[in-house]
Amino acid sequence: MIHFSRVSKHFAGKAVVRDLDLNIAKGEFTVLIGTSGSGKSTTLKMINRLVEHDRGQITFADEPIEKFRAQDLRRRMGYAIQSIGLFPHWTVEENIATVPQLLKWPKAKIRDRVTELMELLHLDPQQFRKRYPHQLSGGQQQRVGVARALASDPEVLLMDEPFGALDPVTRATLQQEIARIHQLSGRTIVLVTHDIDEALGLADRIVLLSDGQIVQQGTPLEMLTQPATPFVRDFFGRSDVGIKLLSLARVGDRTRRGESVAGEPVLASMTLREALSVFVARHTEQLPVIDDNQQSLGVLHFSDLVAERENA
Ligand SMILES: Nc1ncnc2c1ncn2[C@@H]1O[C@H](COP(=O)(O)OP(=O)(O)OP(=O)(O)O)[C@@H](O)[C@H]1O
Ligand SMILES: [Mg+2]
Repeated sequence: MIHFSRVSKHFAGKAVVRDLDLNIAKGEFTVLIGTSGSGKSTTLKMINRLVEHDRGQITFADEPIEKFRAQDLRRRMGYAIQSIGLFPHWTVEENIATVPQLLKWPKAKIRDRVTELMELLHLDPQQFRKRYPHQLSGGQQQRVGVARALASDPEVLLMDEPFGALDPVTRATLQQEIARIHQLSGRTIVLVTHDIDEALGLADRIVLLSDGQIVQQGTPLEMLTQPATPFVRDFFGRSDVGIKLLSLARVGDRTRRGESVAGEPVLASMTLREALSVFVARHTEQLPVIDDNQQSLGVLHFSDLVAERENA
């Protein structure tokens, strides 16, 4: 769907992206990761032409991106960034509705879509609809930013550290929402982060950048278990690879079905790593597991986590 062929970008004569070859398949969740200054944001912005590349070719839906008007490209690609970029004099509702307005959707349809997205992102529509960005917390503003990016149901979602300023709990909730949106809609997503757990938990494919070049790309499991260079191994943290692998599996994968035990249940969609924290916090060896419909599924045993780690 999006294809980079030997793409370079220079700023003031210095190459910040060099000879990049990258293929982003339709429906794929790609995560760009790397140290600060490695060229992640620049790579993302070249996709919707916020930054124009100066060598090589980028295609979208088999057409060179120069063939699209930048504004058309941006309507087809939702874009959410850490520093949010909400319009300060517009209400939450107006901010979320930016692209639907441009596309001249009927009023009622826009209203319904805004309500739907606010609920999806856990912003009470009644309470927040008419507020202005300065009347929201940083995390709430970020959620509005994500809602805005999703508003017109774009073919591609580009996100640059969209959860950066959130506390770990809200961040985990939003990550789960994005994962769910991806599973439901099969939308193509490109996310920039320097949070390794976020990358491991969300990506179909991780692209590790360093100094404007791709060091390695592959599935989360490949990046952890077959690092191409010592840099890759260090980046993904050799010391607790076992723990990191836990980020890749879900509670549901390890649940002993049909068993039951008393206690506050955990969701089958939670990662094993999150479950590990729950075990530790509650000093317990067994947790009841429920599915997304709140139905009892079985029991997760701590020993099954440990076995998983030793295999890794
Ligand atoms: N408009 C610009 N003018 C000049 N240099 C720029 C510009 N934008 C980015 N750069 C430089 O290009 C390099 C890559 O920047 P980029 O924003 O892509 O990095 P990044 O990987 O997103 O980093 P971070 O994790 O800190 O966000 C940096 O050295 C940066 O200073
Ligand atoms: Mg950046």
